[in-house]
Amino acid sequence: MSIRHFINLADIPPASLHAILRYAHELKRSKFAPPQVLDGLSLAMVFDKRSTRTRMSFEVAMKQLGGHTIVMNMDEMQLGGAESVESTAAVLSRYVDAIMIRMSDQPLMEELAKYAEIPVINGMTDRSHPCQIMADILTIEEHLGAIEGKKVAWFGDSNNVSNTFVEAAPLFGFELVLACPEAIHDRVPAGATVTADAAEAAKGADVLVTDTWVSMGQEGKSLDMFWPYQVNSELMAKANDGAIFMHCLPMHEWEEVTEEVAKSPASVIYDEAENRLHAQKAILAWCLENAGVSLRQAGFEFV
Ligand code: CP
Ligand code: NVA
Repeated sequence: MSIRHFINLADIPPASLHAILRYAHELKRSKFAPPQVLDGLSLAMVFDKRSTRTRMSFEVAMKQLGGHTIVMNMDEMQLGGAESVESTAAVLSRYVDAIMIRMSDQPLMEELAKYAEIPVINGMTDRSHPCQIMADILTIEEHLGAIEGKKVAWFGDSNNVSNTFVEAAPLFGFELVLACPEAIHDRVPAGATVTADAAEAAKGADVLVTDTWVSMGQEGKSLDMFWPYQVNSELMAKANDGAIFMHCLPMHEWEEVTEEVAKSPASVIYDEAENRLHAQKAILAWCLENAGVSLRQAGFEFV
């Protein structure tokens, strides 16, 4: 049985991605009586960058489904010091049932997964943020119905979150337009529809989405070229009636979005944040359906 990593959306069969989302909707409906499907299982959570949502939602997800977590910052671990990725992966595989890791260096995360005997879940790299996009699709489905055929317009920087929208668009059948400054069009993944015209991108959109112009690790960067891509009321007015505003958070009000839009009825940012919890419960259940080193999974009986 192959190990179910959750690192790149494109590496996961689309039928499984759809099944994860269906289960996420179901888990949200049963949020006050969560099924104990991860009873006795443990998740290691490792971070090389700050986090509020990813850390809290994975921790609560594991605990509500009956599992346990252990959290470490990468600079507290031997990894990055004397210990190799291979050795770290082998050792963690003997202690826990899955690893959720936020690691800037995606190739290093993929190397960790290569050596791990348990699922590795991508908690964000400099290149991608798949758990965020699963929560975003869950949120779009909740507010607008099926995502297939909807127009999603992205504004601002080209980054880990927009890259994952690009990856998701053909898998989920939605139209995606990225409105970004001309100077960074070469950073947009091949095959994506990109424009420098924010108003054009907003026209007919069902979802307007943005993210910080300064991702973690880019502090000090100039904001000058991004101002035409601020999501404000004027831009929202060009979208379809009933269009929603999304942001993965944390946001910088009055930079990538005005306070007026962020606090408007069109804004679904806190549903989106809540949905990290429900989407990740389903991701964990999928990853751990056939894997694990726990006593329960091994069928051990004390009596
Ligand atoms: N959206 C998101 O990943 O938030 P955190 O950085 O707080 O985890
Ligand atoms: N693009 C942002 C996302 C944070 C959740 C960053 O990498 O900092």
